[in-house]
Formats: sequence, C-alpha cells, structure tokens
Amino acid sequence: MTSFQPVAVPECSLDRDCTTLSRHILQQLQSFSPEAQDLSAIMTRIALAGKLIARRLSRAGLMADVLGFTGETNVQGESVKKMDVYANDVFISVFKQSGLVCRLASEEMDNPYYIPENCPIGRYTLLYDPIDGSSNVDINLNVGSIFAIRQQQVMNEDEADLLQDGKGQLAAGYILYGPSTMLVYSIGHGVHSFLLDPSLGEFILAQEDIKIPDHGPVYSNNEGNFWQWDEAFRDYTRYVHRHEGYTARYSGALVGDVHRILMQGGVFLYPGTVKKPEGKLRLLYETAPLAFLIEQAGGKASDGTTRILDIVPDKLHARTPLVIGSKDDVKLVESFIEDRKNREN
Ligand code: AHG
Ligand code: MN
Ligand code: MN
Repeated sequence: MTSFQPVAVPECSLDRDCTTLSRHILQQLQSFSPEAQDLSAIMTRIALAGKLIARRLSRAGLMADVLGFTGETNVQGESVKKMDVYANDVFISVFKQSGLVCRLASEEMDNPYYIPENCPIGRYTLLYDPIDGSSNVDINLNVGSIFAIRQQQVMNEDEADLLQDGKGQLAAGYILYGPSTMLVYSIGHGVHSFLLDPSLGEFILAQEDIKIPDHGPVYSNNEGNFWQWDEAFRDYTRYVHRHEGYTARYSGALVGDVHRILMQGGVFLYPGTVKKPEGKLRLLYETAPLAFLIEQAGGKASDGTTRILDIVPDKLHARTPLVIGSKDDVKLVESFIEDRKNREN
C-alpha cells in the first residue's frame, strides 16, 4: 500500500490563491475588531457587485435589452445607458439585508438610497459611480466602477454629513472591467490590486503596495476640448507637444486612464472649460476616491490649484476639474496655472 504523498504545490501559488480580498483587509488592519470585520465584509460585497457586473458585460452583446440607452436623463443631465441602471441596482441589491451599509449615493441617483433595515446598525455610506466610461460600454471597450466608503454620522435622511472633504474616506477604489476584471483598493494602508479568477469566482491578490512613478511619459486629456480650456492648460498641452518623451493616451473612461497612469506614471487631466469651470467629473464618487488612492500610491491629485482631498462639496453631485497622477507631472501642470496667475496679477 503506497503511502499518500501530497502533490507538492508550490507554497507561493497556494498562498497567493488563498489571499482573497477579505483576508487581505484583515491582514492590512492587523485586527479582527468589529470595524475591521465591517470593512472586510463591505469590500467583499463590492467584489460581489464587480463579479455580477463583469458577468453581465461579458455577455452583454449576446443578450437582449442590455446595451443601449434607456431613454432617460440622469441628474447629471446625461443620457442613461441600460448598463448604468443595471450596475446601479446591483450595488443596491448586494447591500440589502447586509446590515452593513445604511445609505448609497450614486452618480445615477438624485438622492441617496436608504436601506432603513440597515440603519443604524450599518453606519456606513457607499458612494459610487456604477459604470464609469459609459460611452465605451456599447462598443466593448473598458469601463469601470468607482467606490468610496464613508462613516455615516447622522441617522436620518439628511445628506449634509456627506458634504465633507475626502480625508474622511475609510476606503476607496475601482473595479476595471478589461481583458480581466481587476479590483484596486486602499483602506489607507497602501494600494493593492486583485484579479478576478473566474474559475474560483474570487478576487485574488495580484500586486501589493503599488507605487506610482514620480514621473511618467503618459499625458491623458481630451484635446477635443482644447478650444474651451483656460490658457494655462493650453500652455501645458503645447509644452508636451513640443518636448520629447511624452505619449498621449485617452480612453474615454476615467478608471482605465487613471489605472494606466497608476501603473506607468504620467498625468490625467480633465480641466474646467469657459462654459463649465467646474469641469465634468464628480467629486464624491469620481475624483475624491481616485485622489485618495493615488495619494496612497505616492501620487498627487488637485483641481489645478487645490488638493482634491481638501475640497468640500457644496452639493452631492458637485464637480471638480481634475489633475491626477505622478507628483512631478501634476506639479508641472500646476506650474503652468501658477505662471498664468502671476502674469495676470
Ligand atoms: P461616466 O461614464 O461615469 O459619466 O464617466 C465618464 C467620464 C470619465 O469616465 C471620462 O474620463 C470622461 O467622462 C470622458 O469625458 P469626455 O467624453 O468629455 O472626454
Ligand atoms: Mn464616471
Ligand atoms: Mn457613470
């Protein structure tokens, strides 16, 4: 009778395959406190939402009534895609009966959505952009979801406690629906990426403590708006046009563009325009979560002059211009703004 010899599985691959998101968070926090358990459970629900959205996206082209517009216009004044609504509802449904999140505030909803049975047990608010880069969704190009978790201070429907700067975010990140589905997050202890292994149905740790280079070759902006920009942003764009070592990349999805810059270095900018000086991107569920993450990776994020994480919104769907990425590149953009100001004074 031969004795059972377990197949030698390389320790690292077994250990890696077992480093799931929930385990990683508890490791990060070095704690099993109720707050740590809450955060771990919330992130696991966000991962579930990501899996459901990824599954829908992967089959969208073969299913009826998944792509295209709903015919509605959202609070942003934008035409709503069917995937925006589906993804918005997925996040709501994964948090019902969770006892975790009391309120969800989304790009797609005029007002926050309350889950009364979760309040006041669940003292958290989830702020999210269910599908970022909607213009890509019908043509099978990368889109994302952006999320931030905040402590809910009040136990009523008043959203005033949401109108605070981004330093109060407990966690933030995004899910990138690309060739693989990747979740990138931070709870204030660095930035970490997880890849969805469809055969396991789990997000598995891919990269820990990601650091953005201090400088990179990528600049990412929609030059079609050049005619509407303040002179300073035109000065920066002319500079990169005339100097070696820069490459333009712009996908139309903030999550994809910022992820490239996180990994390769560079700067993404969405300036304000003469008509819309506050720009297009929304603070509470686009620019603030990404600013939290990029600063955790050693980068920088401002509206061109003010640090994004210091900006206090005047309303739930407040917008800010965005300059985000490698600190040297963000500083270069800010220097053109400073120069213009000095010349005008
Ligand atoms: P959303 O699809 O959530 O409305 O976000 C789209 C945003 C952002 O993802 C992207 O960087 C930007 O809009 C693109 O705007 P332009 O098409 O004006 O370049
Ligand atoms: Mn968006
Ligand atoms: Mn969106």
